Amino acid sequence: MSNQLSQTSVLFVCLGNICRSPLADGILTHLVNQRGLADQFHIDSCGTGAWHVGNPPDPRSVLVASKHGIDLTDLRARQFDADSDPSNFDLIIPMDAANHRDLIKQGTPKDKVRLMRSFDPTLTGKTPDVPDPYYGGDDGFDKVFEMLMRACEGMLDTI
Ligand code: 4NP
Repeated sequence: MSNQLSQTSVLFVCLGNICRSPLADGILTHLVNQRGLADQFHIDSCGTGAWHVGNPPDPRSVLVASKHGIDLTDLRARQFDADSDPSNFDLIIPMDAANHRDLIKQGTPKDKVRLMRSFDPTLTGKTPDVPDPYYGGDDGFDKVFEMLMRACEGMLDTI
């Protein structure tokens, strides 16, 4: 899967674009930098909802990322654009089944959409959600970080 620049373009999608998908964006960006693959990827994230458009990531996502040497502070939330995102990205990665349904309802081609945890090689059977940590405690963000890291590593091993 490549665009005109021979890059693979990956769009992570959650509900608000302040907790899960910016963290996934930061983790995959970090991994491709570590592996010397940065020029082969275009990575972005967005939310299906508009509540937080223009806002930086949730401070709890910023904190857990920084504990692992990943800087999210330059990211700003934006809403999924059903007119342009499906043609601009090779892979569109929702965090949970509700995000997945929203993308399909808005006309995103099914073959571009893959649930985030489907890339985790340690999981088998039905693909679980990356749970929304927004209303939970700080430890939810640590668990989400670990899930996202395993899925991002799996993604790089398969694409
Ligand atoms: P996210 O988490 O989808 O991982 O960014 C959420 C952030 C905000 C809200 C819901 C989920 N909210 O309802 O404002």
